[in-house]
Amino acid sequence: MPIFLDTADLNEIKRFHRMGILRGVTTNPTILLKQGVTGGMRELEARAKEIASLIAPLPLSVEVTTNDPARALDQAKTFAGWADNIAVKITVHGPAGELDNMELIHDLETAHDIRVNVTAMMSAQQCFLAALAGATYVSIFGGRVNNMGYNACGEIARLRKLLDQFQLKSQIIVGSTREVLNVIEWLEAGAHIVTVLPNLLEGMLVHPYSKETVAMFLRDGATAEALMKDAKN
Ligand code: E4P
Repeated sequence: MPIFLDTADLNEIKRFHRMGILRGVTTNPTILLKQGVTGGMRELEARAKEIASLIAPLPLSVEVTTNDPARALDQAKTFAGWADNIAVKITVHGPAGELDNMELIHDLETAHDIRVNVTAMMSAQQCFLAALAGATYVSIFGGRVNNMGYNACGEIARLRKLLDQFQLKSQIIVGSTREVLNVIEWLEAGAHIVTVLPNLLEGMLVHPYSKETVAMFLRDGATAEALMKDAKN
């Protein structure tokens, strides 16, 4: 299921969903804030429910907003209860490397039947362990990996090989898109899914030479129509 949209913008989601291109949507607290979801949990709930119903049965990822394991568990249960197609995003570990989240991820997937998208990962090895813990999705941030000076494609290829070798069910989502080229190169490297910014998706479709070619067809089509009219008269 290759293309997810990395946004909480309802118009962009509707636009690309109508085209039949999307297979899911991902959000995070930063995206939600940037896109005007500033009314706390109530607004988060309203936006998440709206997106989930717009794209159902395709999956929507919503991230917990706390690093406290008990509160994160509560939020995960709440978010998953908003709609059947919501997966809960949990970061691989806390801001100081605290490892409580891994147990929570395992618990949510095995004891609570909640699909988890493990996020903020920068390497194949992090994703591999999250996959062993039972995550439905493992999210590696390709753009941030590239920005650190090593090629995300290498990490994606190694990870895919490991998941296939050990028959782990996790789907690789590559996020943090920076360039139009990222989508194809990360899918070719072995990603199951790339979650893309709307402007990059548009950049994949629109080509200057296609524009010029379409303009030529329309120009010549109009000329042909005019000639047909003249011939009739
Ligand atoms: C994906 O799931 C991530 O939330 C997102 O792509 C991160 O992108 P960034 O590196 O641009 O913040």
